[in-house]
Amino acid sequence: MTTGYTAAQLRAAAADAVRAPSLHNTQPWRFRLVDGGIDLAVDPLRRLPATDPSGWGARIACGAALFHLRLALAVAGTPATVRLRPYPGDPDVVARLVPDVPRRPTPTEQSLHGAVARRFSNRAPFWPDPVPADARWRLGEAARAEQCWLELVIGASAVNAFAEIARSAHRVLERDPAYVSERTRWIRSEPSPDGVPAAAGGPRSEPQDLLPQRGFGGRDRAPGRDYEPEPLVAVLGSTGNTAADQVVAGQALQRVLLTATDAGLAVSMLSQPIEVPGAREALRLSLGRFGTPQMVMRIGFGQPGRTTPRRPVDEVLDLPAVR
Ligand SMILES: Cc1cc2nc3c(=O)[nH]c(=O)nc-3n(C[C@H](O)[C@H](O)[C@H](O)COP(=O)(O)O)c2cc1C
Repeated sequence: MTTGYTAAQLRAAAADAVRAPSLHNTQPWRFRLVDGGIDLAVDPLRRLPATDPSGWGARIACGAALFHLRLALAVAGTPATVRLRPYPGDPDVVARLVPDVPRRPTPTEQSLHGAVARRFSNRAPFWPDPVPADARWRLGEAARAEQCWLELVIGASAVNAFAEIARSAHRVLERDPAYVSERTRWIRSEPSPDGVPAAAGGPRSEPQDLLPQRGFGGRDRAPGRDYEPEPLVAVLGSTGNTAADQVVAGQALQRVLLTATDAGLAVSMLSQPIEVPGAREALRLSLGRFGTPQMVMRIGFGQPGRTTPRRPVDEVLDLPAVR
């Protein structure tokens, strides 16, 4: 008979979960211990109304945190059974985790878990070396293992066509003053437990750049340090686009990101073409795939960088009062 999770188990797993990526590093999640199960919910106070009016980004981030939570619990020998959107009356709760039969972690769970503390968004130019075929295959497998697909955009004309869609989405977003001021509010020039540190923002964009970089107040570019001429662009997609599908996509995203880290690869995310409905549809049509694009990644061999800060884990836990 399996008993419920304890506060100590939740605290340990949540310390890994909060390392997940999120739009502007808003960290839009809460973890609650309820009747021995863990409820993971979107934090309504950390929504981005201008950037993410539908809540897609918050659900992707919570899905990514859910994947970290699953890994941490599995590696501790206390794996979880997960139910997505368990309470129809409370759609902010994206998942409920209850203990499954204890077992040893698999080697894959162990290596992906080992990548959690090393992963970060690397927005700087990558080396021109191509991503090897076996790593490309592993990334696709990672998406498939979480019921999603990963389409690699191969060849100069396909990459150029993608870049055109991404740049036009970027221009649409940049014309919206509410979007611009929201992004600016989350840039941090002083140490802070949330938001995007200006130092992590990558170099300031230049007119010759192929892909649009979301501006996080990055530093000026050293002469001659341009972006890699043929970036590996990967589009992650899900079969449907319900709120639950977006949580599934968040888990797949995180499995892909950790697989990349484990393979020594760097990744940055580019979600402008997902956030603008017309661009998302153009992207879907250009890929000729069923389902819905949920995230775009630039993948390659990066220069060393740093992980970004997170809030203390106790700030995101709701534990039953101890009597
Ligand atoms: C849904 C979602 C959308 C994102 N979109 C972008 C983006 O368009 N450009 C970008 O540079 N980073 C993007 N990111 C990455 C976040 O800015 C990043 O995860 C956050 O700042 C925390 O940093 P870390 O990934 O280094 O831990 C996105 C992340 C998520 C989860």
